[in-house]
Amino acid sequence: MTKKNSLSITDNRTGKSYELPIENGSIRALDLRQIKENSEDFGLMAYDPGFANTASVKSKVSLVDGEKGILMYRGYPIEQLAEQSSFLEVAYLLVCGELPAKDEFDQWSHEITTHTFLHENVKKLMEGFRYDAHPMGIFVSTVAALSTFYPDSKNLDDAECRKHQIQRLIAKTPTIAAFAYRHRIGLPYMYPDNDLSYAGNLLNMMYRTSEAKYEPDPVLEKALDVLFILHGDHGQNCSTSSMRFVGSSEVDPYCAMAAAAAALYGPLHGGANEAVLRMLREIGDKKNVPAYIKRVLNKEIRLMGFGHRVYKNYDPRATFIKKVADQVFEVTGRNPLIDVALELERIALQDEYFVSHKLFPNVDFYSGIIYQAMGFPVEIFPVLFAIGRTPGWLAQWQEGHLDPEQRIARPRQLYMGYGKRDYVPIGKR
Ligand code: CMC
Repeated sequence: MTKKNSLSITDNRTGKSYELPIENGSIRALDLRQIKENSEDFGLMAYDPGFANTASVKSKVSLVDGEKGILMYRGYPIEQLAEQSSFLEVAYLLVCGELPAKDEFDQWSHEITTHTFLHENVKKLMEGFRYDAHPMGIFVSTVAALSTFYPDSKNLDDAECRKHQIQRLIAKTPTIAAFAYRHRIGLPYMYPDNDLSYAGNLLNMMYRTSEAKYEPDPVLEKALDVLFILHGDHGQNCSTSSMRFVGSSEVDPYCAMAAAAAALYGPLHGGANEAVLRMLREIGDKKNVPAYIKRVLNKEIRLMGFGHRVYKNYDPRATFIKKVADQVFEVTGRNPLIDVALELERIALQDEYFVSHKLFPNVDFYSGIIYQAMGFPVEIFPVLFAIGRTPGWLAQWQEGHLDPEQRIARPRQLYMGYGKRDYVPIGKR
């Protein structure tokens, strides 16, 4: 039989057969629309809650092979980038599609380093938050507010203008993060030091007090840079899809990225690193792990930092993060919660439930332990995730904008509500 790249479907309601082309291992959902019970019929749709089996875009930014536990940015394995590259170089790769030549990288780094300051009115806006405001709430709002400071960002079809907004956002996210942190602990905001590296400057803005010049510990600076690389991009996850979804309305990238960051905030996504830390604190000691796992097996709670929609194997980012943890602990001392985490992982990975459900530790399981050892409070963890994910969001946003197939995102629904009924005045209900 000759191989045909098509799918034959018979509609048993009508007995009619259809042949749908298969391209890139998928059929076009709109090709289903021709399948109708009668001429009045709207046509067949695909129902896919949570988009579990729907490709919403064609992308060249990152590949997640969940079965094999592989992650690549623009074809480069994450392990090689984490070991040999830097976050700013990876940001260039994600946004521009190729690794930069030396002069391209110098220019890129210069542009980002010279856009780290915030307008003083942005600072005033941040000062208006309550003393105990969650830094992620401040982050989401401040990124959205930047839209009003840069009205030129609406010029979406101008490549130079897009690049400028992308560089501004990559440059300013650490400043927003650090100001949000210092706001919460009541310290004066510390301005960027553009002599320092991207990660070193973040540590400076977070931790500098009275010293004339802040000198970041090189091991911690490198570890933070690696953590940012590991979070750079990850296919069409919830926040990236939000970025593309909102961006498809052609709003400016600040508003689109605020939506992406809002999606990241949730405990099932980037908020999981914070949730993991709270969980480990609640467990408190290795000896309490079996009782906690029992509650998970009884479906009372979920094991935070475990499981993934795409990975049905060990998350390669989690493997790498364990190595980073060892390096960080040599400087900071061992975080005792690591023993609880290792015991949780050991017991979970032997358990039939976790094995049969293919539940493995994900990137968030160990990242929080490292952040905590470095002195970051738990509330800032999702903001650190957002800094790392910023170039990925922007690369995906730009890719969407340049895709001739992109249309405003507008899913269908299966309406299950009432048919027509007449309004009843309030006194007669
Ligand atoms: N603990 C216990 N059971 C779990 C867990 C977990 N963490 N995750 C999934 N399951 C079970 C779930 O109960 C269900 O079991 P059953 O089929 O018996 O009803 C099955 O596995 C499938 O779960 P699901 O909720 O349909 O899976 P999903 O693909 O919709 O959800 C997830 C993916 C990441 C939201 C989920 O695994 C989860 O809630 N994990 C904990 C939160 C977390 O760590 N999130 C960070 C994800 S990695 C960082 C990022 O990229 O955002």
